[in-house]
Amino acid sequence: MNAALLGAMRRIVGRSNAVDDPEVTAGYAVDWTGRWRGSTPLVVRPVDTGEVAAVIDWCAANGVAVVPQGGNTGLVGGGVPLHGEVVLSLRRLAGISQVDAEGGQLTAGAGTTIADVQAAAEVVGWSYGVDLASRDSATVGGTVATNAGGLRVLRHGDTRQQVLGVQAVLGDASVVEHLGGLVKDNTGYHLPSLLCGSEGTLGVVTAARLRLVPRFEQRVVALVGVETMADAVALGGLVRRTVADVDAVEFLTSSCRELVGLPVPLGEEHAVYVLVECAGHDDPTAGLAAAVGDLPAAVAGPSEPARRAQLWRYREAITEAVNQIGPPVKLDVTLPADQLARFVDDVPGVVPEGARTWLFGHVADGNVHVNVTGVDPDDESVDDAVLRLVAARGGSISAEHGIGHAKQPWLHLVRSEAEVAAMRSIKHALDPAGILNPHALLP
Ligand code: MLT
Ligand code: ZN
Repeated sequence: MNAALLGAMRRIVGRSNAVDDPEVTAGYAVDWTGRWRGSTPLVVRPVDTGEVAAVIDWCAANGVAVVPQGGNTGLVGGGVPLHGEVVLSLRRLAGISQVDAEGGQLTAGAGTTIADVQAAAEVVGWSYGVDLASRDSATVGGTVATNAGGLRVLRHGDTRQQVLGVQAVLGDASVVEHLGGLVKDNTGYHLPSLLCGSEGTLGVVTAARLRLVPRFEQRVVALVGVETMADAVALGGLVRRTVADVDAVEFLTSSCRELVGLPVPLGEEHAVYVLVECAGHDDPTAGLAAAVGDLPAAVAGPSEPARRAQLWRYREAITEAVNQIGPPVKLDVTLPADQLARFVDDVPGVVPEGARTWLFGHVADGNVHVNVTGVDPDDESVDDAVLRLVAARGGSISAEHGIGHAKQPWLHLVRSEAEVAAMRSIKHALDPAGILNPHALLP
């Protein structure tokens, strides 16, 4: 351990928040899947933006690389110290302020969990547009930095579309802040958009001004059985065209159903299940039922919250169930709608024999989570085969998880040399010492 580093950090954040005990730091050095495991000499836990700026100032002056970390729920290794970096944990910057019940906005500290943002929004009659299975751990800072997607992108957009402003510490320790929340504010470069999805490489997000969305009380969920992925894509299109108030259209294959260990939901097994959720001020059940027609379906309406949650378990339990087998190769990809079914049908054919492919995701967004088990997670031939297939079909190598470490070698499949060069120029301008998550995102 570098004594000067430890001494400086203890002076800034206090002895108890500059942690070098290996038993404690180990928990910050591995992601929850166990796939991405590194090591760190020190975890620094500032309590406010001033402390974050002081930490960055010292690290920039001394050439110490830093990995910002929120709830550590990322899935591409972008939030763990894979090259021995210092971990900058933002979890203590939690808290909600400046709630505007009329305008439908609030400000949240980087360490606030998504569940806490949702709860604060509900208190004033609103809702937060981003929801994801890791809502109890994922933080505002982490979801802004990675532009997290989740279950309601179809209706409300990704995290970038919720962010009206951010406060952040850039790589030169300057603090940028634009938290006024004006809906119309056309005054030059939109730094929140740039920081959103920058994966901690340009600045450390310390707070965000978030827009809220209407809170709909009348909710209905349908789990529908279909025989092919093409049927699932067609049903997703029909629902979106004909039903008002669609929140989510998700899918899972029968093998995922079997893996999560929940009973066959519709009397007999179907090759693919489509989960649709609608929510409105009026009961959306009739409109959804009309779109589903004669297809086999389990439906849980507004008065059945427990049953709705039960149907969502078929979809939300998959990630954990796959991980029980062992750390999978996780490939979060997106395809044009007209290529989605063919891709899902073809992708098991490009992974090595003996491997298992688990396919689920957000069918309305064209977003497939390709999880592969039974292969060495370090065997990049699986990533290579799947991501090349994605690119060949006009898709993207990351739909919502980001690039992190996992996708770096394949960024060139979807981003031109000129685009990567422009990204490097921006990185250099905002982080001249190159200390902010220097091994993530850009190859
Ligand atoms: C999901 O949609 O469930 C998440 O993106 C997590 C995952 O890909 O495992
Ligand atoms: Zn997802």
